[in-house]
This record gives sequence, structure tokens and C-alpha cells, in this order.
Amino acid sequence: MSKVLAINGSYRNEGLTDQAVEALAEVLEEAGAEVEIILLRDYPIRFCLNCRACTQRPGAAPGECLHNDGMQELIDKIERADFFILASPTNFGSVTAIFKRFMERLAGYAYWPWELNGPQYRKAQAAKKKALLVSSFAAPAILARWFFGTDKQLKMTAKVLGAEVVGSLYTGMIAKQQHPKLTEGARAKIRLLAGRLV
Ligand SMILES: Cc1cc2nc3c(=O)[nH]c(=O)nc-3n(C[C@H](O)[C@H](O)[C@H](O)COP(=O)(O)O)c2cc1C
Repeated sequence: MSKVLAINGSYRNEGLTDQAVEALAEVLEEAGAEVEIILLRDYPIRFCLNCRACTQRPGAAPGECLHNDGMQELIDKIERADFFILASPTNFGSVTAIFKRFMERLAGYAYWPWELNGPQYRKAQAAKKKALLVSSFAAPAILARWFFGTDKQLKMTAKVLGAEVVGSLYTGMIAKQQHPKLTEGARAKIRLLAGRLV
């Protein structure tokens, strides 16, 4: 059975991002996949220390962090997953702070000893996993996906995890109601996207 790990960086219960991830999970489960949703807002992750202890040892396995928190458990889940859903709203032009904090804690997915100028991604040579990206905006999606950093940051996260992006859901114009609802159009796109994972 395919294992799908959804990592959701929204702050709000039942906001647009939660609804989109849940709708994707439902379709994927109907298609026989096992889906686990991680709500980063409930997950005990500390900030990266920028010490690069996790980047020094060579090899394909992610390096170990000095922090002893929920991130190791999350990395174990990432390693076991076949597919990912990476989701975040856009705040001040980028993924949310909790999604960014999660991204920075993926430093151990790079081999970057002190003598190298830049990181080498440990999963670059591995068999590619697949990822779907979900982002939401107050702005119209057609502009927001280009002008804001969210899509680039979600793509960067997929790359670090060794996953190929096979589709994206951009939901725009969602901030004019306190409790926006996923449109039928978005639900149709979700069914299409789910078919690209399983
Ligand atoms: C502090 C803050 C900053 C925001 N910045 C942007 C932004 O730069 N661009 C944008 O399109 N929407 C922006 N928004 C709107 C949010 O992206 C939108 O409300 C969000 O996608 C809702 O996601 P959710 O329903 O999962 O909570 C911002 C909202 C807040 C509260």
C-alpha cells in the first residue's frame, strides 16, 4: 500500500489549506493509499541551530540533529513515505513561519562539510518519490504563484526530500470570507491531482 505523508503549515483549523489537504487525503484513501497528515502547528519542532552538525557525515541517510525533539520522528515518517503533499498558506509573500522552521530542520538532508562551498542534496541520486504542492493566497492564484515565494519554497522542500513535483493546487482569492470553502473547481482539480500520485 502506498504511503502518503501530508505536511501542512497552516495555522488555522479548517482553513482553506486544511480543507484542501483533507480533500486530497480522502480521494487518495479511496484509491487505496494510506495517508497521514502532519499539522506542523501541533508538532514539537525547535528552530535550526545552523550548527551544521547534521550535514557533516557523508551518505544518503539524513544526518542527525543535536536537538532532541519531534523532528526525528517526522524524519522517520518522511523516510518511510512514498509520496508527499506539501502545503502552506502565503504570509507576507512566503510559506508560513512554521513551514519555514520545518524546512530549515531538513538541513540533515544535505551533505555539507565545512570545506564545501555549498550543500549537496543527499537524495539527489535516490529513486524519486513524488510530491503534490498545495498553496493558498488572498491574491488571485494566477499572479500569486509567480509573485510570492510560497511555490518556490514548496518546490525547494520537495527537491531536498528527493521528490519530483507532479502537480500543484493553487487556491487564490480566499481571504474575503472568514470561513472560506473549497470550491467545486478546486475539488475537481484535487481529483485530477490525486490521480498523479496513486
Ligand atoms: C499575516 C498574514 C500575511 C499574509 N500575507 C499574504 C500575502 O503576502 N499574500 C497573499 O496572497 N495572502 C496573504 N495572506 C492571506 C493568507 O495567505 C490567507 O488568508 C491564507 O492562505 C489562509 O490559509 P488558511 O485558510 O489555511 O488559514 C496573509 C495573511 C496573514 C494573516
